[in-house]
Amino acid sequence: MSYLELRDLQKRYSKDGPLIVNRMNLSIEKGEFIVFLGPSGCGKTTTIRMISGLEEVSGGDILIDGESVLRKKPKDRGVSMIFQSYAIWPHMTVFDNIAYPLKLQKLKREEIRARVEAAAGATGIEGFLDRYPRQMSGGQRQRVAVSRAIVVRPKIFLMDEPLSNLDAKLRVSMRTELKRIHRQENSTTIFVTHDQAEAMSLADRIIVMYQGKIEQIGTPREVYRNSATRFVASFIGTPPTNFFTVKIEKAGDGFIAVHPGFKYQVPPAMNGALAPYAGKEAVLGIRPEFIGLSPAMDRGESWICDTTVDFVEPQGSYSIMVAHIGGEELKIVSSEFLDLPVNTRSALSVRDAMFFDPDTGNRIGR
Ligand SMILES: Nc1ncnc2c1ncn2[C@@H]1O[C@H](COP(=O)(O)OP(=O)(O)O)[C@@H](O)[C@H]1O
Ligand SMILES: [Mg+2]
Repeated sequence: MSYLELRDLQKRYSKDGPLIVNRMNLSIEKGEFIVFLGPSGCGKTTTIRMISGLEEVSGGDILIDGESVLRKKPKDRGVSMIFQSYAIWPHMTVFDNIAYPLKLQKLKREEIRARVEAAAGATGIEGFLDRYPRQMSGGQRQRVAVSRAIVVRPKIFLMDEPLSNLDAKLRVSMRTELKRIHRQENSTTIFVTHDQAEAMSLADRIIVMYQGKIEQIGTPREVYRNSATRFVASFIGTPPTNFFTVKIEKAGDGFIAVHPGFKYQVPPAMNGALAPYAGKEAVLGIRPEFIGLSPAMDRGESWICDTTVDFVEPQGSYSIMVAHIGGEELKIVSSEFLDLPVNTRSALSVRDAMFFDPDTGNRIGR
């Protein structure tokens, strides 16, 4: 039995309005760290607000620990929500902020104190209990919000972009912190973000959402290495996957993908899946990391064409190179500082590629 289950969950904000959440089905196990990842407006907040009970559902069901919670009030569902804006009260001390939900539950004073201290200890703010929020940094305030969510010992934590108000450096250190807290508390968590790097670094499983629908559910490795759709391949990874419309042509026993700027020999393992596309168009996706450049004369087995690097964007441990093939821009990632001068011809090779249906965007042969 899953710990949280969404069954055909649907949401419209008005009777004839669009389906904002479109038949979502999802099972989450106890202790999992789940990330909802998708662009702004795809329905992430709406979905977790329905789970928390802050928003009514238009169809389907939500089960927590085997029980439908649709008729339960937010406070009776056993969930704790952390918002982007922290929602901590400026006129209360840190202690009182964290203690607030326990006071509502009318727990004894000694128990409140013990639990607040434990929750503050878990996020490393036990020394700040007498302070007011204005006397604390953004990261410390975020820890207050996390402590207040931990203190009620919820069945499920729901976090809606909780790090997006922090500066870039703090965001990265807080995400490590959240991972540590999750490890320690073994809490079941749904974390919402539009930032793929944040999702990859935190999630046990990522739910990739687009236009109210689940595009793919998978581990960070699966959504990256085995993207189910063109959208997932473009949303996961930086820089994004390069896409080219190609024509699939028969060549001997196999196929080649033909583009005005190159010809790509289709790996034999793809022959069966690509057969229905013979003579037709498909979309070829090539991740920047799977492209290699070498001096122009140096054409290896996976060479597809020659190109010219227009410019290089150094990133420290790797470089992004911007080039053109067949009039289309292409990004290449290399972990080496190549001594390839800009504006000289180089040989371009492709180690791995994906094919997508041009109409549905679905991965071919997955
Ligand atoms: N209260 C509301 N009334 C009407 N439309 C809404 C309301 N809240 C959100 N929406 C719409 O629902 C869609 C999804 O919004 P939201 O769930 O906030 O997306 P996300 O959190 O992924 O950015 C958006 O198109 C948004 O405009
Ligand atoms: Mg949102």
